Amino acid sequence: MKRFIQQQRSKKQLEGPLVKKGQAHAPAPASVVAYTSILFLLILLTTATISSLWSTLSSTNNKTTSIANQTIVAADALAKHSNNETNNTTSREKPKKRPFQFQATLNCRSIENKTCSTLYPKTTTTTFEVNEDVCPKYFRWIHEDLRPWKGSGVSRDIVERAKKTAHFRLVVKKGRVYVEKYRKSIQTRDVFTIWGIMQLVRRYPGMVPDLELMFDCDDQPVILARHYSSNLMAPPPLFRYCGDRWSHDIVFPDWSFWGWAEINIRPWEHVLKDIKEGNKRIKWNDREPFAYWKGNPFVADTRQDLLKCNASNELDWNARLFAQDWIQESQQGFKQSNVANQCTYRYKIYIEGFGWSVSEKYILACDSVTLLVKPRFHDFFIRSLQPLQHYWPIRDNDKCHSIKHAVDWGNIHMQQAQEIGRAGSNFIQEELKMDYVYDYMFHLLNEYAKLLKFEPMVPEGAVELCPEAMACTGSGLEKEFMTESMVKEPSTKVPCTLPPPFEPNSLRIFYGKKLNIIRRIEKWEDNYWKNRNQHLHTHR
Ligand SMILES: *[C@@H]1O[C@H](CO)[C@@H](O)[C@H](O)[C@H]1NC(C)=O
Ligand SMILES: *[C@@H]1O[C@H](CO)[C@@H](O)[C@H](O)[C@H]1NC(C)=O
Ligand SMILES: *[C@@H]1O[C@H](CO)[C@@H](O)[C@H](O)[C@H]1NC(C)=O
Ligand SMILES: *[C@@H]1O[C@H](CO)[C@@H](O)[C@H](O)[C@H]1NC(C)=O
Ligand SMILES: *[C@@H]1O[C@H](CO)[C@@H](O)[C@H](O)[C@H]1NC(C)=O
Ligand SMILES: *[C@@H]1O[C@H](CO)[C@@H](O)[C@H](O)[C@H]1NC(C)=O
Repeated sequence: MKRFIQQQRSKKQLEGPLVKKGQAHAPAPASVVAYTSILFLLILLTTATISSLWSTLSSTNNKTTSIANQTIVAADALAKHSNNETNNTTSREKPKKRPFQFQATLNCRSIENKTCSTLYPKTTTTTFEVNEDVCPKYFRWIHEDLRPWKGSGVSRDIVERAKKTAHFRLVVKKGRVYVEKYRKSIQTRDVFTIWGIMQLVRRYPGMVPDLELMFDCDDQPVILARHYSSNLMAPPPLFRYCGDRWSHDIVFPDWSFWGWAEINIRPWEHVLKDIKEGNKRIKWNDREPFAYWKGNPFVADTRQDLLKCNASNELDWNARLFAQDWIQESQQGFKQSNVANQCTYRYKIYIEGFGWSVSEKYILACDSVTLLVKPRFHDFFIRSLQPLQHYWPIRDNDKCHSIKHAVDWGNIHMQQAQEIGRAGSNFIQEELKMDYVYDYMFHLLNEYAKLLKFEPMVPEGAVELCPEAMACTGSGLEKEFMTESMVKEPSTKVPCTLPPPFEPNSLRIFYGKKLNIIRRIEKWEDNYWKNRNQHLHTHR
């Protein structure tokens, strides 16, 4: 954190080109700084050099040149050349193209009879531009999620304790990724999670510090806070996709950001674009004036309860609810489950399943008003969303009345309703774009690694992983999604700046404010029904 700030200050003092060589195994982030104009020079670096470098790397030639060296050499050689080419552009101008041609495509023939370490004999490092962008607010929960270890740090002993329910242990050592598998996860959750971390390492070469972590791919948090309240022992640090108020599990982006092969949901970057396009096709006013939900009702009682609000002949709660038949849909190639085509209603219901639900981001992205049934679980970004600003809260113990009121309110206050819908989808489009998902992962892992009190080791049974080792052996859609979500080149910039922890009081104020708004809406709702019932009685 301090480092980032110092860096930002120093940028302003820099006059001439400056490149610090990337420290190949530097655990600290942002130990590498490049001045903007150098990046500009790097553009001029003939792509041929680099792509041929990569093709030799991935074919038989064992030339061990690292990207870092290329950068430095190239920058020197091009220093004179630069004035020539840029004399009618300002040298401070942002580069239009990326400086590197990373190995952009999988070379599956190259992995034959080889291991990742023969395929990638050197770890790559690169130079980065400073980044003045402060990360979105939800990054602050990184500090909260790691708070149980702030005092004591993370010892090897407690990491080993987290193994009990873990599906795998992931190790980053000197920029390489190793995995020791313990159990098979549901579907390809583990595979795509590991893939995602590997892409992070590719995106920020040399920046992801050495670490060991345990990951549990199941739905519900298991590290119960009450078992560790005595402070005698820190809880085992266990990474998973969601947490709740009563647990210390560390939340991490779920697999679907890189694709959900089993149900044909493409990597997030692409889905996000599709939804953006889809939103343009049908304007809010022209959408069905009801609340839509489609999903698997059998994973949780609360979903079964929701189905009672489906419109029947006698009663219309303004809800249009559909059970997803995965077997039928898989036979039809998932044409009906394309999330980008589901933004045709003004209101969309989000309801948890057995844990948090992956559907959340797809629902919020729709430009429709998200009717959020009071959640128990949280993923890594939902905690910063505000009721009435990003979504409309729905009671979990009286869903039908709550939904009916929300829809009636929105169909009268169309302007305000649209604004809520738009704020929700803007949040998703802007603050949950893939760049920030990677930056979140980076900061979480970086802060976590700072807490480690032991030297991360590659365990005996672990295998090294590289893109070829994972994607080339995958089946159809798995391979396709991995190819699509592979980081094609290193970032030009360091990650955004991590905001500081909440002040002791501000978190309480934040939750208090949220609760007040929810109470206010519940009061509107109660009044609405009171008036309506009176109305019905007087007109009977
Ligand atoms: C990088 O360059 C330096 C000198 O320019 C050289 O000594 C070193 O061996 C090079 N490293 C690699 C990995 O090529
Ligand atoms: C400057 O640019 C011209 C063409 O635009 C090129 O022929 C010449 O070699 C360049 N000079 C230097 C010093 O690179
Ligand atoms: C740069 O400026 C010189 C004259 O100052 C001109 O001859 C040359 O064509 C310019 N180069 C480019 C790429 O515009
Ligand atoms: C740069 O120079 C080229 C020709 O050398 C010219 O077409 C272009 O408009 C110039 N750009 C600017 C921003 O002056
Ligand atoms: C890999 O090994 C198999 C048998 O061990 C051999 O048939 C094949 O030609 C090898 N492939 C390469 C690219 O060397
Ligand atoms: C809800 O009602 C609609 C319309 O009557 C119907 O098509 C749909 O199947 C119902 N949903 C469930 C889960 O029964």
